[in-house]
Amino acid sequence: MMKKTIIKTDKLCKTFSSGGIQQHVLKNLDIRLIEGDFTIIMGSSGSGKSTLLYAISGMDKPTLGDIDFAGENLSKLNNDQLAIFRRNHCGFVFQQIYLLDNMSVLDNVMASGLLVKKNKRELAKKTKELLNQVGINENSWSKFPTQLSGGEAQRVGIVRALINSPKMLFADEPTGALNSSSSERVLNVFSNVNHSGQSIVMVTHDIQTALRGNRILYLRDGVICGDLQLGGYNSEKENIERHEKLRTFLTEMGW
Ligand SMILES: Nc1ncnc2c1ncn2[C@@H]1O[C@H](COP(=O)(O)OP(=O)(O)O)[C@@H](O)[C@H]1O
Ligand SMILES: [Mg+2]
Repeated sequence: MMKKTIIKTDKLCKTFSSGGIQQHVLKNLDIRLIEGDFTIIMGSSGSGKSTLLYAISGMDKPTLGDIDFAGENLSKLNNDQLAIFRRNHCGFVFQQIYLLDNMSVLDNVMASGLLVKKNKRELAKKTKELLNQVGINENSWSKFPTQLSGGEAQRVGIVRALINSPKMLFADEPTGALNSSSSERVLNVFSNVNHSGQSIVMVTHDIQTALRGNRILYLRDGVICGDLQLGGYNSEKENIERHEKLRTFLTEMGW
């Protein structure tokens, strides 16, 4: 069966200029992401991982090149159209999570859901389910963001990103600020939504986290220099072979 492309870039370039100096951060990237994949982006700090995520998610415009996202050419959309497109199809988890300070945990998530879905009861049910899954229990649902720890706020942000069952979830080191048990919970939720058909592209520095994916792209100086088909994550126990494969790959990449 032919695998369906969800995102395809054509000679994607991103250049930043400051003080008359140009920095070419993404260089002619031709990337094809497959629907249903859990793609991992790795690479050393400064290699352009975050910039790539911003570009392919329509958060930032490329300097040159095209991005096709589920048949939509992102460069043809104006800012309003892009915002609607993102709201309907994308979820975002970035390193910095911004919750609305004057709304409770529950309302922060529900507000995002209500922009897309109309059935409030269904939405409340799903919100509570997801919050429980990431370990934010009922005691915290009526709290305000300032009453949460950094790790709790991060997890609420993650639930908010998932509430509309996005076609594609973009995550930039989503578990970087979490302790190991919270990370595990969050990654289990990611694996679940991926198994139910949603695509994920996630940047991480952590090998255990990367093992959740089925494909690894390695970025160096704005160029994809490695592309590993790792196969799917099933359970921690079956992971030894994949772990070995990933380590070999990363060694080859000069990790
Ligand atoms: N908004 C920006 N303005 C200027 N330079 C930027 C901007 N965003 C990123 N860069 C530069 O692009 C390079 C890649 O950054 P980034 O994509 O954040 O790397 P990574 O996420 O892999 O660590 C860095 O040298 C960074 O300084
Ligand atoms: Mg980054």
